[in-house]
Amino acid sequence: MKNPQLNKHGELQHLLTTEGLPAAIMRDILDRAATFLDAGGHEIKKVPLLHGKSVFNVFFENSTRTRTTFEIAAKRLSADVVNLNIGSSSTSKGETLLDTVGNLCAMHADMFVVRHAQSGAAHFIARHVAPDVHVINAGDGRHAHPTQALLDMFTIRHYKKEFHNLRVAIIGDVLHSRVARSQIHALTTLGVPEVRVIAPKTLLPTMVENLGVHVYHDMVQGLREVDVVLMLRLQNERMAGALLPSAQEYFKYYGLTQEKLALAKSDAIVMHPGPMNRGIEIDSSVADGAHSVILSQVTFGIAVRMAVMSMLAGKAQ
Ligand code: CP
Repeated sequence: MKNPQLNKHGELQHLLTTEGLPAAIMRDILDRAATFLDAGGHEIKKVPLLHGKSVFNVFFENSTRTRTTFEIAAKRLSADVVNLNIGSSSTSKGETLLDTVGNLCAMHADMFVVRHAQSGAAHFIARHVAPDVHVINAGDGRHAHPTQALLDMFTIRHYKKEFHNLRVAIIGDVLHSRVARSQIHALTTLGVPEVRVIAPKTLLPTMVENLGVHVYHDMVQGLREVDVVLMLRLQNERMAGALLPSAQEYFKYYGLTQEKLALAKSDAIVMHPGPMNRGIEIDSSVADGAHSVILSQVTFGIAVRMAVMSMLAGKAQ
């Protein structure tokens, strides 16, 4: 079946999901992102690669990190950036998603960055735009959040250098998490030999093993000797009914504390996509501690998003 995010030359046309995204393209994105960072990995260059292009940020769901870092990334690439405020747009008057996008295309949008509560929204838009317009999925329902996963891969490679020798644990609300799904596809594609998921049964999708992960319900077992700890946010807004006894109970069994982290390797890194619920998913002493690389993830996200946008803009027609 044709991959909807690749063009006829096998190049990236849209970035919709890490599922089925070739390893060579993922590595190209990570390598390209590295060129936008200084040697220390914290200063980001301004380059003219998207000069004259218009990037439209269309966020139907709230965001701090993704929307802002896409805006910074587009500006560092010298693009013109338009942030559509959905709350005050004509969507609130009943305009359809496609009519909104069609009108933005008439304003000469070259690229859309889309976040939507409905899984498949970015794919839907990608199917309806002209061939010279690109769509980046900035998170759709519980389905995919590919740039989050790619910035996570960049962060892991920055600190651990290789993927082939790692044991990685993903902890928390896997069931509702687009981040977890995109991370699992990216980690397995890049050759991580052991990906674990640690969660209560109520927060795991059925048949999650089919994604190539090892399932644990106990942090004490699951955290042993891991190199990378990927925490997830409890997606309360996507939970129908009570899947957990209480936040306190959740923290007791699945919150990351110093004591539990001591079960991982002594040089393990701790990551979280944000926003964090301190004292529920993660203790503040861990979130702000020596193993945490959570704020580096945010900075690297700018470079990774620059890499994705410049790759899309530079592809053959
Ligand atoms: N990680 C992430 O998607 O954060 P935001 O919701 O703030 O964009």
